[in-house]
This record gives sequence, C-alpha cells and structure tokens, in this order.
Amino acid sequence: MDKSISLVGGIGGIKTTERYYDNWSKKYDSTLNTWNYTVPKKSINLLKKKLIRKPNKILDLACGTGLFGEQLIKNFKNIQITGSDISEKSLIIAKEKKIYKKLYKIDFEKKKNFTTKFELVSMIGAMTYCKNFKKLFSNIDYYLLKNGIFIFSHRIDLWEKQNFDNVLRNIEKKFKIFFISRPHNYLPLNQDFGNKIKIRIVLLKKIK
Ligand SMILES: C[S@@+](CC[C@H](N)C(=O)[O-])C[C@H]1O[C@@H](n2cnc3c(N)ncnc32)[C@H](O)[C@@H]1O
Repeated sequence: MDKSISLVGGIGGIKTTERYYDNWSKKYDSTLNTWNYTVPKKSINLLKKKLIRKPNKILDLACGTGLFGEQLIKNFKNIQITGSDISEKSLIIAKEKKIYKKLYKIDFEKKKNFTTKFELVSMIGAMTYCKNFKKLFSNIDYYLLKNGIFIFSHRIDLWEKQNFDNVLRNIEKKFKIFFISRPHNYLPLNQDFGNKIKIRIVLLKKIK
C-alpha cells in the first residue's frame, strides 16, 4: 500500500487507483479487519431486513477481494454472483475464494454487455471513486431487472461536498429511493477515519 496517498483525500485517477489496490490486495482483508470494517455485514443485514424476496442473480461492482461477496454467500443460499473491479490482483484473491461465478476486470463507469440482467447490483465502499455519476447510474439501470435493487454505501463528507441529494434527484425517473440508513462508522479503527468519517447505506429500486 502506498502510504503517501491518503484514503481520506482520494487516491487520484483510475490508473493510480488500480495500482494502489493491486499493491494493497494481499494485505487488504487483514488491514480492513484491523480497522473494523463492517460495512459489508451491515449492508447484508439491511438487505435481509428490507427485501421481500431473496435475490438470485447479483452483480457486485468494485468487488475488490470479495468481502461483500463472502457476506452474500454466507447469508443467501443458491445465488449466482458476478464480480467486477479494476484491480486485477484483487480479482485474483476474490477468485481464490470461489464465491463468484464470473469475475471481470472493468471500470464501473464503462458499460459491459453481460449475458444476463441482475436482481441486485451492489457497490460497497467504492462510490468515493466515481467520477461520473450519470454514467454509473445509466450502467446500473442497464444491468438491473425492473424492480431490481442497487445497494451502495457512500461517505457522508463526500455526499455533502458533491451535493449527492441532487445526484439522487436527477435519477428519480429511473430509481426510487427505497431506503437510506442512519450514519455508520466506516473505518472506526483507522486513525484518519475514526469516528469522524461516516457512511450511509442506500437502497435504490429501479422503477422502469
Ligand atoms: C474500498 S475497496 C471496496 C472493495 C469491496 N467492495 C469491499 O467492500 O471490500 C474499493 C474498490 O473499488 C475499486 N475501484 C475503484 N475505482 C473503480 C472503478 N472505476 N471501477 C471498478 N472498480 C473500482 C478498487 O479497485 C477497490 O477494489
């Protein structure tokens, strides 16, 4: 991990981000464990509480080493998860866990023609890296079945800076806000994040 780049301030462009997560990949799971990263678990608990039907086909965008995929497999039986990320080395670790049916190296702002549509799309811990919300939400809309759910987490400090309420208003013809969580700690045992930087977990439902 390149310590000179700050996770709080943002890593930089896509190539720098890719390299950063490639270099971190082998230690990512253990580092996140020491920082008490529980957003994947909290996200699953929300899905279990809010969804009437268990999703079967799931697309995990920015899946990294598969921390959210692990939670999905633990909590939902007989599901098919497709994962994607820009960090090839993180994808190698995700593959070793044998939880994803297929894994792809793609930028979530680039549209991919998957052979199927999904009931659930997730993007946990990665909205920070989105540079173009319009492109991202257009892709999510394309990937989801009607009434499908998009679950993501987003840092509240960035939400305010980006006027993210407005981003959500701009997509209201395609997505209904299904649920927005209370603030949760993000990386409570990381000294830069601590109790200062919090996230919300959001569930959007595709309406058309
Ligand atoms: C904090 S990690 C989260 C990984 C995983 N979802 C989790 O909860 O542990 C952020 C991930 O976003 C990926 N990422 C960043 N920008 C991306 C992009 N434009 N397209 C796809 N993945 C991206 C990184 O490679 C990294 O694996």
